[in-house]
Amino acid sequence: MSEQHTINSSLDENRKFSASKEFSANAHIKSISEYKQLYGHSVKNPEQFWKEQSQLIHWFKPFNKVLEWNKPFCMWFLGGKTNVAYNCLDRHLSTARKNKAAIIWEGDNGETKTYTYQQLHREVCKFANVLKQKNIAKGDRVCIYMPMVPELAIAMLACARIGAVHSIVFGGFSAHSLRDRINDCQAKLVVTTDAGIRGGKIVPLKENVDKSLEECPSVQSVIVSRRANAVSSSNSSSGSAICHMKDGRDFWWDDEMNHENLSSVCDAVEMESEDPLFILYTSGTTGKPKGILHTTAGYLLYTTLTFKHIFDYHEEDTFWCTADIGWVTGHSYIVYGPLSNGATTLMFEGTPFYPDPARFWQVVEKYKVNIFYTAPTAIRALAKEGIEWTNKYDLSSLRLLGTVGEPINPEAWMWYYDNIGKKRCPIVDTWWQTETGGILISPIPGAIAQKPGSATLPFFGVQPVVLKEDGTEAAVNEGGYLTIKYPWPSMMRTIYGDPERFKQTYFSKFANLSETLPASPLAGISAGLYFTGDGARKDEDGYFWLMGRIDDVINIAGHRLGTAEIESALVSHKSVAEAAVVPRPHEVKGQSIYAYVTLKQGVDKTHLLKDELIKHVAAEISPIAKPEVIHFADNLPKTRSGKIMRRILKAIAEGKEDVGDTTTLADPSVVAQLLQTREI
Ligand code: PRX
Repeated sequence: MSEQHTINSSLDENRKFSASKEFSANAHIKSISEYKQLYGHSVKNPEQFWKEQSQLIHWFKPFNKVLEWNKPFCMWFLGGKTNVAYNCLDRHLSTARKNKAAIIWEGDNGETKTYTYQQLHREVCKFANVLKQKNIAKGDRVCIYMPMVPELAIAMLACARIGAVHSIVFGGFSAHSLRDRINDCQAKLVVTTDAGIRGGKIVPLKENVDKSLEECPSVQSVIVSRRANAVSSSNSSSGSAICHMKDGRDFWWDDEMNHENLSSVCDAVEMESEDPLFILYTSGTTGKPKGILHTTAGYLLYTTLTFKHIFDYHEEDTFWCTADIGWVTGHSYIVYGPLSNGATTLMFEGTPFYPDPARFWQVVEKYKVNIFYTAPTAIRALAKEGIEWTNKYDLSSLRLLGTVGEPINPEAWMWYYDNIGKKRCPIVDTWWQTETGGILISPIPGAIAQKPGSATLPFFGVQPVVLKEDGTEAAVNEGGYLTIKYPWPSMMRTIYGDPERFKQTYFSKFANLSETLPASPLAGISAGLYFTGDGARKDEDGYFWLMGRIDDVINIAGHRLGTAEIESALVSHKSVAEAAVVPRPHEVKGQSIYAYVTLKQGVDKTHLLKDELIKHVAAEISPIAKPEVIHFADNLPKTRSGKIMRRILKAIAEGKEDVGDTTTLADPSVVAQLLQTREI
């Protein structure tokens, strides 16, 4: 297999960390033998297992078939009817959870708001009625482009309540990215905010919406919630100075919600199990983002079950996931998984560094957070700031820590374990993807001992296999392609509007190998074998070690970007003839972007132009996609058939002297030129 990065560490990789006896005794799953017994059952009798687990959620009508698998397409819980918002809200109202905090919101500036289940239910019903008044019905797409404000969760749940399909676009994406995502799913309505606030600064979100809507004919209305008035005296007291409202198209959230005729009663629509719940765009290996489609019952059940066991959630816990709801982590583990379990979920608008690098820990102390889930990038960045910040606050409420989004290096794991968990808290390193809907590989904390840097063992019903290029299973500790052998309920159903691309991307690599390899783990299932795009190895204990992407996807600070997307942004600049983008290791962000750029004839290679190109990428995609290095290259290393040899570009960017075999290049002297001009 091709390029991958492994975690280099001086720590003994077989050192295991187990939860305390007390933790395990109180956990839902208490021992490794209990895990193994349930796991064995879940993979030997998957349909029986999922039928048993399906009782965790409320069904308006029971299903009559657990799984229909027309490889690679799968459908779960056929014949059943349920509603995600009903499960997240209504069913708790007849219990002691009625007046329990559902969402605690902590603003960037320390402001706070709490919604009990009853209050959240009321807001969601009202907003669902607003959506209906704006002609939104079951199946219509609604684009949500908002910062981390409670209205974002309310809008999602309101869509789910009436069967509208939400497509949330991360507030850090540019107007161009927003336009493409709106057009791809033909959204009828956009919910946004006048502006976002992060680190004390205002981000003009509505302005981006206005720009994109110049080219989005499908959008009929825009609902705008107010946030800008919370900051800065330069804004007018109404907070509306920051954005323009277009007559007949744009409506203020408050005006709509405070309308005296607006009812707070709205029945949850009885949804078929396979009715779409949401689309979430993610980067792939081409320039066009993929609309990952998730459906109702399977997604709900899987996120409910994983939340309960992987975070070992107990009724009295306060759970904090620091992700943004614009990414799948926020969908599944800020909103749907926690609320379906009747949990208290903390939603945080700010950043780890504002007003100082103790912000996370100050919030942990303020709300006595028990379970804390964040990204390795944040851990590495905060570790650099030193422990005087972590020591400023009382972290004794914490009992479980988690990570997600990228491989965590063992040193960062140990720092987290020692300084945040104070050697008391297990760490769940959770591996999953936008496509998988929920966590697939992770410790179950009371049962599975952790090894720093390993995501450990698969969740119930998940059957990962590491394959070599020829479709045979990799030996112990041998690297290979991570694939999943059998469907699980929250698996993506398709790429919105493009089932061919779905098949091609996730199911084609090994599709024809099984017949020739009778001993292969693919026998009989190859057409349904899910290809993750990640490299991995499995150690002698059966633990999985993730080794990063093996396709042209880069993971910067836990954000996923396609090299092709960044390249097409670069070549859309008038001075650029060609571009090739590769990742290189970065101490804090995991990876950063190194871009080789060939300029058009006659264009001067100036520092000013480099800055301009970096700004151009930020405007085309998002500031998270900014290249760290722009390397002006007169030529790129290409094969005789014109294919760019990325392996060589990557080696050069990584600072290697030996870039490997160059004999297949049309002009091997290009390499020497690049080595001379590279930026380390
Ligand atoms: O490469 C893996 C990495 O993030 C990718 C998925 O990115 P995205 O769809 O944006 O979802 C991120 C949040 C679930 C994966 O293909 N990744 C995610 N979690 C881990 C990880 N790599 C190693 N260890 C993890 N725990």
